[in-house]
Amino acid sequence: MSEAHNAILEPLINEVDLHAGISELVDRIADDFEGEELYVVGLLRGSFMFTADLVRLLYRRDIRLVIDFMTVASYGAATESSGQVDMMRDIHIELEGKPVLLVDDILDTGRTLDFASRHLAEFKPASLKTCVFLDKPSRRVVPFEADYVGFTVPDLFVVGYGLDFDGRYRELPHLSVVKTDA
Ligand code: PRP
Repeated sequence: MSEAHNAILEPLINEVDLHAGISELVDRIADDFEGEELYVVGLLRGSFMFTADLVRLLYRRDIRLVIDFMTVASYGAATESSGQVDMMRDIHIELEGKPVLLVDDILDTGRTLDFASRHLAEFKPASLKTCVFLDKPSRRVVPFEADYVGFTVPDLFVVGYGLDFDGRYRELPHLSVVKTDA
């Protein structure tokens, strides 16, 4: 059985605070894209819940949307040193000349968003902005700043709201920290 099965979790951002933070983020995005049709690209799998909440709130702010998803993969423990990111599933929408918002759950080393945003830039969008639920700046390997950040967190092992530990805990409606034995 996976070690993840019995993990001890401690809440870090409760559901109320989490949604308040996302609401503020949506206000900023809605102000910036008022009157435009925004092309949202969510990165799977981690961003599924954040993207779903984000687009529903943008709908309530009268922002028209076109939504697609992209899956990229980083490679296991080797990722730390090699930093390899590969495309697993590309988008199926046209982005040329469109305002694009790339959405991910967490900006960690920066490799995933660096790779994904370079890839989307090849489609020649009118603009390309990035939006993350969490930013862990202390972990950055590739210099990358997201345009919209929900919460900045220290270097803790966080799960929930799309983030997993061996596929588990993505369904949590709040963010928790996995406690490791000292
Ligand atoms: C996680 C997360 C981000 C990425 C961030 O994805 O969802 O996409 O890592 O890390 P980075 O900034 O160091 O590149 P993961 O590869 O674990 O896949 P998942 O989305 O399926 O959880």
